[in-house]
Amino acid sequence: MTRVTDCPLVAGLRITDALAGKHLLVTGVTGFVGEALLERLLYDLTDTRITVLVRPRGTTTAEDRTRQLLTKSAFQRLRDRDGAEAVDALVGTRIHVLDGDLDNVPALPGDIDVVVHCAGEVSFDPPIHEGFATNLHGTLNLLAALADAQAAPHYVHVSTAYVAGRRQGHVTEGRLDHNVDWRAESAAATRVKDAVHDASRDATKLAEFLRDAERSHGAEGPTAVAAEAERLRVDWVAKELVDAGRERARTLGWTDCYTFTKAMAERAVEETAVNLPVTICRPSIIESALTQPSPGWIEGFKMAEPLILAYGRGDLPDFPGVPDASIDIIPVDYVVNAILAACATTPPPGSPSYFTICSGARNPLTFRHLYDLVREYYSHHPLEQRDRGAVRPPTWDWPGAQRVEQLLKLGERAHKSADRVVTSLPRSSRTRDWARSLDRQGRRLDFLRRYFDLYRPYVEAELHFSDDATLALHRSLDPADAERFGFDAATIDWDHYIAGVHVPAVTTPLRAFTGGRSVKRDPVVHELPRSDGSLVAVFDMDGTLLPSNVIESYLWLRLPELSGARRAREIADVARALPRWLLTERRDRGAFLRSVYRRYAGADYDELLRIVDEDVTDTVLGRLSAAAVRKVREHRAAGHRTILITGAIAPLVRPVAPLFDEIVAADLAVGPDGRCTGFLVRPPLVGEGRGAWLKHRAAREGWDLAGSYAYADSASDLPLLRAVGHPVAVDPDIALSRVARRAKWPVENWHARPPVGPLLGSRDVRALESSRT
Ligand SMILES: NC(=O)c1ccc[n+]([C@@H]2O[C@H](COP(=O)([O-])OP(=O)(O)OC[C@H]3O[C@@H](n4cnc5c(N)ncnc54)[C@H](OP(=O)(O)O)[C@@H]3O)[C@@H](O)[C@H]2O)c1
Repeated sequence: MTRVTDCPLVAGLRITDALAGKHLLVTGVTGFVGEALLERLLYDLTDTRITVLVRPRGTTTAEDRTRQLLTKSAFQRLRDRDGAEAVDALVGTRIHVLDGDLDNVPALPGDIDVVVHCAGEVSFDPPIHEGFATNLHGTLNLLAALADAQAAPHYVHVSTAYVAGRRQGHVTEGRLDHNVDWRAESAAATRVKDAVHDASRDATKLAEFLRDAERSHGAEGPTAVAAEAERLRVDWVAKELVDAGRERARTLGWTDCYTFTKAMAERAVEETAVNLPVTICRPSIIESALTQPSPGWIEGFKMAEPLILAYGRGDLPDFPGVPDASIDIIPVDYVVNAILAACATTPPPGSPSYFTICSGARNPLTFRHLYDLVREYYSHHPLEQRDRGAVRPPTWDWPGAQRVEQLLKLGERAHKSADRVVTSLPRSSRTRDWARSLDRQGRRLDFLRRYFDLYRPYVEAELHFSDDATLALHRSLDPADAERFGFDAATIDWDHYIAGVHVPAVTTPLRAFTGGRSVKRDPVVHELPRSDGSLVAVFDMDGTLLPSNVIESYLWLRLPELSGARRAREIADVARALPRWLLTERRDRGAFLRSVYRRYAGADYDELLRIVDEDVTDTVLGRLSAAAVRKVREHRAAGHRTILITGAIAPLVRPVAPLFDEIVAADLAVGPDGRCTGFLVRPPLVGEGRGAWLKHRAAREGWDLAGSYAYADSASDLPLLRAVGHPVAVDPDIALSRVARRAKWPVENWHARPPVGPLLGSRDVRALESSRT
């Protein structure tokens, strides 16, 4: 900083008098600070007129958004005082809504006296071009629109105390001390965006996305692979642009893209708004209201709340911060009051005022003190977790950032290995439980990593903001206004604010949520709707109706036909082919089935049918899940058309055929000698082929797929499951169980009991084992 603000203050400032009759333009009123400011203007400064710049969202117009805003809890005391109708009627009378965006600022009124520019991109790590677009160009667009309107208002720019960047020690209120060229940085950000988009289309990069997509979605089919590959590309672009913003900010001495672009905006304001009175307000970390509009009022979750909640849930086992460093928090009503006082004090054009609105200068709150208060609060009011009861708040050792980073890396590595193991284990309800708990741990680690990376520069920074100018502004207030609009941070009683106001306010919604969820309800039994034939119920076979797979069923059919050495050789050959088949199946289930079915070459087709009817039917029926049979019958009883779609070959579905109205199965080609050729006359319907078949038939037959049902066990069946309104995952593999959990699809366990009867004789098992060694 180059100089302390030389603020032209006059003692006895009365905000209400200074702003009476004034026309204010406020941006960002749908955000946290802007909403609190608007409320205060409407409630306490009744002689003002306010123009708000609001962007439409979806089909909701700017005016409707503003009306909805006035129904929110922040405006409760206004509604209590003036009545809901009168508050709604403010739109169009005291409030003039401008429908617009900072990217494209509409024509502004020429009689604006004060502009408070609150709108901004406040996420710490936006893609680099987005940070510049909103924080820098949005500000320049607003200033240009004011110039076009020939308005010469007092321009109050809401910035952040952290524009000071990564430094240690005292930070005074004044122009930032740097020589970074905001025009050059902004142009570079645009070039980086274009370069990253181009790089994402490079052939090598595209091949990489495709390879990864095939690995994860190959079994579903080419459309799913293509969609996934494009999603990977878009994600990669976003990540690269976020990284570019963060790294550019750090190389220039800022913590992140947010503070970097806010700093660039300040310099742009200083250099372009030379003919306007300019005030730059720099709040530190803004948290819930101490008293106004009501104690604890907060809009959305800001900086500390996710951490406070994670700590209460037991998900924040330690912290990288320095325990005796201060965390600079300021309640939102102090910020609003300071902004209003700043609006009421006009500096000369070309000589901006700077106010840092913070607490650390004269009433520091250390991390340790904050931790003690939050811990104490949770010790008396623990959060309840479903299945876990009251959570004991963790005890922090404050091991330092390096140790926390080591522990986090260790956790991430362990999680990755465990995930690899669980994904390759045979499916069972136990492996699904393991996967679920791993996913929970994964989310917790992701959370820690994200917040650790984002907040590390803030919690390690030992910045001491001075607020001499802000204190002078506060002291210039008339005593009555100092009482009503005060913002002296020294008056904040942290014990009361943190434990009595802020933490209760941020935990209340969570308590209401988990309180509702923890009530155990009886499972709802849904009656199947009756149908006149327009509803269908589609079932997969292997893994769904019965715990089997094509390799097993191949052995059922082929082994009885063979004898002695050939039988042992066949088992050994199959065992050797298994790893290759498994790899193929992950990429392309159709290719996998074809390569298994090639082994039927030479088999006598009629003999296969005889083996099914005489030997295999009992095994199949013995393994058929009773729950599956019940479900098929229920659908039939409700008048639904029951359909079996399977990759198995036609002879193998003979035992279950009576259950279904229609069967879609693969079938083997037979030569003139009655022997299988190893090729197929009807290929297996797999992956998205199943979804496509169902949609095609539904269109032709008039089936109502939105009301129909599908039951399947594997992620390769996702296109089939997604084609109906009632998908059910049956004993799902890990990938499907994850999708089902996210989509809240029912998951049923039809194969809780082990299969009845040995599939292979002990002779076969020995042969299989010896072939592996
Ligand atoms: N919160 C803090 O702890 C903190 C601390 C220091 C400084 N500040 C500063 O205070 C100001 C307000 O922050 P906040 O916490 O209130 O943020 P917020 O809750 O995220 O609100 C951001 C506001 O900006 C609007 N906005 C964003 N992009 C826009 C665009 N392109 N065109 C028009 N409006 C746009 C948003 O409108 P939509 O509703 O349409 O998205 C919203 O009204 C920011 O300048 C921030 O840098 C905040």
